[in-house]
Formats: sequence, structure tokens, C-alpha cells
Amino acid sequence: MGTVLKGCYIVTSEKTVRSDLRIDGEKIESIGLSVEKDGDEIIDLKGSYILPGGIDAHTHFDLELPNIKTSDDFKSGTKSAIAGGTTTIIDFVNCHRGEKLSDALETYKEKTKGKCYSDYGFHMTLCEWNKEVESEMEEMVKQGITSFKMYMAYKDTLQVNEEEIEQALKKSKELGALISFHCENGDEIIKNINDLISKGKSAVKYHEASRSSEVEYEAVNTLIKIARKINYPVFIVHLSSKMSLDAVIKARREGVKIFVETCPHYLLLNKDFYELKGDDGLEGSKYVMSPPLRSREDNNALWEGIKLGEIDTIATDHCSFNYKDKRENAKIDFSKIPNGIPSVQHRMELIFSYGVKDKIISLNEMVKLTSTNPAKIFGLYPKKGEIKVGSDADLLIIEDGYKDTISFENSIQEVDYTPYEGFESNGKIKRVFLRGKELVKDGEFIGKEPTGQYISRNKWSYERR
Ligand code: URP
Ligand code: ZN
Ligand code: ZN
Repeated sequence: MGTVLKGCYIVTSEKTVRSDLRIDGEKIESIGLSVEKDGDEIIDLKGSYILPGGIDAHTHFDLELPNIKTSDDFKSGTKSAIAGGTTTIIDFVNCHRGEKLSDALETYKEKTKGKCYSDYGFHMTLCEWNKEVESEMEEMVKQGITSFKMYMAYKDTLQVNEEEIEQALKKSKELGALISFHCENGDEIIKNINDLISKGKSAVKYHEASRSSEVEYEAVNTLIKIARKINYPVFIVHLSSKMSLDAVIKARREGVKIFVETCPHYLLLNKDFYELKGDDGLEGSKYVMSPPLRSREDNNALWEGIKLGEIDTIATDHCSFNYKDKRENAKIDFSKIPNGIPSVQHRMELIFSYGVKDKIISLNEMVKLTSTNPAKIFGLYPKKGEIKVGSDADLLIIEDGYKDTISFENSIQEVDYTPYEGFESNGKIKRVFLRGKELVKDGEFIGKEPTGQYISRNKWSYERR
């Protein structure tokens, strides 16, 4: 017995068609107007949109830092993802210097075992370069970890230098893998922090000054220089500023291959949030992440970049720390506030409400940015990120013409606030299917035990238009 979704608009990155869709087991079996078979369950969707399940290729669940751990683990994180219409996440294996990549991977296999409600994959962090890392990179690709991340910031822990980036990129080219880069110049950040604090500028709002747009721009240009030399694509995560996007666009025109991700917060929030005081003057700490929030002009430039097809994906960089801990650390100075904000549950409805409903992008473009492009870039396509016969039945049904408000009270993320408190939502996440199994019904999460699977990923296959 299959399930037929009737009376819906099927939305892909290319087109929208009025059609029915039949699910058989975990897959989409047929799409058309007479697909029913005897005994099928029929669900009448009454003109709703069906999108491919979201893919959030940038989360940090169960991330352990020296003094603090994220409040969401893989259980609450993937449950929130599903509730928000994201059916696959790709998280970052956090690897320490001197640690074997395979050992770090084992730790993450343990963290995820039996815990994930969504499907999931891993990127591997490279925080140093040596012969062992080089040969382990090869092993990772064999295990379906076809993408890596290098940080140009976080000095003394994760930060790599230009020579290390160059070596890793050469290896990536040999393997057909992809490396994501956190572009902020870590040396500059340390200098800025010391300088600001020595002048008594320790309030939350100085977080942005310590990691200004120039700090990101400088790292982006260094990366462009290396990508040009090695002649191989790079992926820039969480791009935050107009200045950096302009540098990317210019380099692209000169033939450098760069893929770019931005996040809902760089589109919808701005640095005025750092001035929020709350009860104790520290509410701005809720919004501390890296790179920091920028100006409204930057928000607009990124939306413009999206419209022009210069931004490839929108991911959350979900990295949740409780406000109570952020605020406690903010009492020392801004540089001690744990970096990161939550949003995995709200990405799809935010982009629907503020991108599609505000007529900045079409629903097809939303699908491209939140599902199809990440699937192609991270080797999941066409199993994921697409509605076609043979693809996984990972489906999201959004109800249009709806008004609600995002709030901590109606969130299931395991964290004591949402940075989107009070934001209007115009798209209800009505139903979500993961490989044919309904996990959200009438807007309510109905999953029982976690059934998410690890996805061994292929190599990237994506052409920018
Ligand atoms: O502030 C952030 N972005 N925290 C998560 C780690 C990272 O750099 O992506
Ligand atoms: Zn980063
Ligand atoms: Zn991140």
C-alpha cells in the first residue's frame, strides 16, 4: 500500500506543477494525475505547496568547547529540524589538533547513534596539516565524508595558515572533494580584541568592531588568491557582508570558482541588536555569533546577491548556547561570549515569510537555496533535494495564507531563547515526510523513536549558472 498526496502544487527549483504524487515505501514512485492504486492511503492537500525537504548543510549539534557545550544535541537538534521542514542536516565533526580524523569521527558516530530524527551527514574539520591528515582525508572521502571545513579564525585552536590551506586544497582537488572556509582573519581579531579591551571597550556591541567586515573581507581575499592559484573550487560558509560578496563576484568574473552560503541572520537581523539591553544591559549577547551581524545595507546587499544568483545556499549555522550562559560570560567582556545562535527550526518559514512572501525570491528559488543546491554541492543529489521519481520521499508541505509569530514558547529547540522572537511567520510547516514516513502532521511533530539515517555522500556535482 502506498500513499497518494493529492491536489497539490509540486514545487522544484525549476518549476511548479499541479499534480498528485505517490509514495511507495521510502521513495517517490510516481508523479501525475492518475497515480492511485487499490488500497492506497489518500491525503487531500487542497492546493498546498509540496517542496523537497530542506537541507541544512551547516549545523553544530552537541558541540563541546573547552568551557561549554551547545544546548541542542543531535536529538533535540534534528527533531527541531524536522519540525521546521528540514529533513537532512550536515553537521561538522569537531576535530582537535593532534587528534586523528578517524577518532573524531568515531566520537560523532557515538553522539549521533540512535539519536537523529532527520537524515544526517558530516563535514570533517581540518585544523592542522600534516602527512597523517593528508592520508586520512582520503579515507574520509571513502566513508562518504566528501567535504571538509577549515577555519581562518579561532587562533590557537582551529585557525590554519595560508600554506596549510594551499596544501589541503591541492589534496581536495586530487580527491574531488570540497573544502568550506570560515573567512575571518584570526590574527586581526586577536589584535582588535586586545586593543578594544585595553581601552575599556568590553560591552557586547564591541563584538562587531572586533570582527568587522574588513576582517572578513581580508580572509575572503586571501582565500580567493589561493583558490586562483590551485584552480579549484572553494565554498565560503556564513558570508555576512556586502564587501565580501563584492570580492567574490569580482573573482568569479575572473574565473575563480567559489560557492557561497549565507544564513537567515545575515539577511534578517542587524548589528543594532547588539545594543539591546534587557534587564541587565546584556540582552545583545543573544546575538553574538561569528562573523557578527552587520548593517541593514549588508542585509539588502545579500538579498540582492540572492536575487542575482550570486549566493548558492542558505544554511543556519545553528549553534545554540543558552542566553543565561551568554549573558553570564558577557559580564566579563564581549570576547568571552560563546559564539553561535539557534535557528534550525525556523529557517524554512523565515525564508518563506521574508523571501517569498515579501516577493524578493520565488518559491522555486527558495527550493534551490534551501534544498536543491545544498544537495548538489554536498553530494546528496538526486536522492535528496529534488521531487522526482526515484528520489527519497523527503517532503515538506507549507500552508500559505497563515499568520503566526515565532517565539521561544512555540519552539522546540533545546535553548532558552530564539533570536527571532516576535518575527511574523506566514508559512505553516503543515506536514513533513522523511523517506515516506510522516513526522509532522497538522503542524505537530508526531515522530516517536528517531529514524534518521547516516548518509554517505558522493562528491560534489554542481555548476553555477
Ligand atoms: O558563531 C558561530 N558561527 N559559531 C559556530 C562555529 C562557526 O564558526 O561556524
Ligand atoms: Zn564558521
Ligand atoms: Zn558554523
